[in-house]
Amino acid sequence: MALLVVMTTAMSCSDDDGEDMEMPVDDSLYGVLGGTTLVDDPNNPGTQIEQGRLNLRAVVDSTIFVIAADQRLSPYFEVLLSEVGNNNLSGFAALSSSLTDFFAVATGAENFTYSGMNMTDAHDPEVNSRMSFAADDAAMDAFIEDVVAGAAKNGVTDPDIIQPIGQLLESLRDVVVQRTETLYARLGGTTMVDDPNNSGQMIEQGRLTFRAVVDSTIFVIAADQRLQPYFEVLLSEVGNNDLTGFAALSASLTDFFSVAAGATTQTYTGLSMADAHDPSVNSRMAQAADDAAMDAFIEDAVQGLAQNGVTVENNGPLVREIGALINSLRGVVVQR
Ligand code: HEM
Repeated sequence: MALLVVMTTAMSCSDDDGEDMEMPVDDSLYGVLGGTTLVDDPNNPGTQIEQGRLNLRAVVDSTIFVIAADQRLSPYFEVLLSEVGNNNLSGFAALSSSLTDFFAVATGAENFTYSGMNMTDAHDPEVNSRMSFAADDAAMDAFIEDVVAGAAKNGVTDPDIIQPIGQLLESLRDVVVQRTETLYARLGGTTMVDDPNNSGQMIEQGRLTFRAVVDSTIFVIAADQRLQPYFEVLLSEVGNNDLTGFAALSASLTDFFSVAAGATTQTYTGLSMADAHDPSVNSRMAQAADDAAMDAFIEDAVQGLAQNGVTVENNGPLVREIGALINSLRGVVVQR
């Protein structure tokens, strides 16, 4: 006690304005969030919890729900979300407590430790299999937005709290974001190579990769009874040895995916995704797609990738990233 008095006095004396001679206050962010004051834990009757931790846990849990409903981020949390879809909440509980520990320690709590993975490993899909594929800057922006939304759901909107939390998250951007090159660049980009289909011509390696996968995928689709009915026009042309529609579709899909993957050297001049999949606009679309057709299409694209050496086994994060890219179009493609 005597030591505490000496320390408090010493601290107060070194305080130039010398006003506040009372109890030392916990001015860490954790302290501002309620600090070590014990309160009843609403989730665990009969137990108590530090008010600071309770507030952080509430924000973390709300944020996980915001992320689950955010199509920009849900693909990264595929493992967690499929567990939750199967009524298995063990991963959710583990993530909730791990994130709460992390934020408690990062905001200055002294009675907790964070024992999870370091931030680099946690966000490296090769190390943490619960991270579907590596995050890019846009994902990080979305994550910060969702934390702010999760805080707001708990009434935490004070800029004096939100700003330091934003700064804390920003300070981790460089370790969390582990995908900085465009998909197009990673698939070979603008490096010129001989075009195996057109002797004497060159083609960008990125485009060549996409074209190969697109062509394989069209063949997989042609043999897939779940999707054949949609491609009736194309398939009957091909049956009559007329390959013009196939060539046009191959080029159009290759343009589309190259641009979607970040190519700045290519352009897509085809129909909008809504029009392309609306049978009343595009007569080559025999009937409107439903969700099952969309699922089948993604499966077939994964097979098309595998036929070109990109498999879940040897390149899981890349396959999941491309799957997520296609799936992000579900809302406009599915019209039935
Ligand atoms: C500064 C921002 C971030 C912080 C502080 C953070 C913190 C954490 C922590 C503490 C874990 C648990 C690690 C463990 O279990 O040992 C984790 C896991 C994870 N994080 Fe992050 N994260 C951030 C940003 C992101 C972003 C931007 C994404 C996605 C784009 C992301 C996706 C994930 C995923 C998928 C997991 C695994 C979840 C699970 O257990 O199922 N995180 N993160």
